[in-house]
Amino acid sequence: EPLVVTMDGPAGVGKSTLARMTAQALGIAYLDTGAMFRATALALGEGAWDLSGAELEARLPGIVFGLTGVGDCSTLLCNGAAVGDEVRTEEVGRWASLLAVRPEVRARQLQVQRSLGLGTSLVAEGRDMGTVVFPAARRKFFLDASPRVRALRRVRQLEAMGQAADAAAIEQAIRERDRLDRERPVAPLVPAPDAVIVDTSELTLHQVFERIMDAVRS
Ligand code: C5P
Repeated sequence: EPLVVTMDGPAGVGKSTLARMTAQALGIAYLDTGAMFRATALALGEGAWDLSGAELEARLPGIVFGLTGVGDCSTLLCNGAAVGDEVRTEEVGRWASLLAVRPEVRARQLQVQRSLGLGTSLVAEGRDMGTVVFPAARRKFFLDASPRVRALRRVRQLEAMGQAADAAAIEQAIRERDRLDRERPVAPLVPAPDAVIVDTSELTLHQVFERIMDAVRS
């Protein structure tokens, strides 16, 4: 029986880091579904959120995903190439959020994410992993933190990657992304009823990781 752990929450809450750490500790694959939406947005290009439903349905099957390796070595492939930092910009994140409201995109992602998880143990990270994609997961987590705290964390992350960061603009972008993710009719960002909710605002990364591992082991 494959072990599935889901990790959902808003942008910039530290889900990616924690999901990767958890996957590494458990020796299972890490699936970054935000990176799938971002890679899709980058492949389709700016403005793709305005394409007709039929056009989206025609183009989405041409974007093929794969998942190899476990833990720190988990690699998401898009059309055969490893998805990397090119999708991690604020701009591509915004494109991804705008595309993610389209039902055609969500339907395709649901199908592809489930097929990547088929018969595989994994930590699945995103917005609707526990509510929609893997409702039967063994353990579900919902990580949260205030927009201010998340913006400051993102600023540090961008600076570490050598990118310029404007804290006020980033906080505003995070609030806008929250709004898009929470208010969309299809798969809105909400905790699954059976999710463990962790407010990370006052916790260190290590403290959150401990809570997650305690809950996974219990
Ligand atoms: O988590 P990340 O910031 O990489 O995700 C980019 C965008 O993709 C999110 O803002 C959200 O709109 C969308 N997304 C989603 N469902 C997921 C993962 C990401 O709608 N499971």
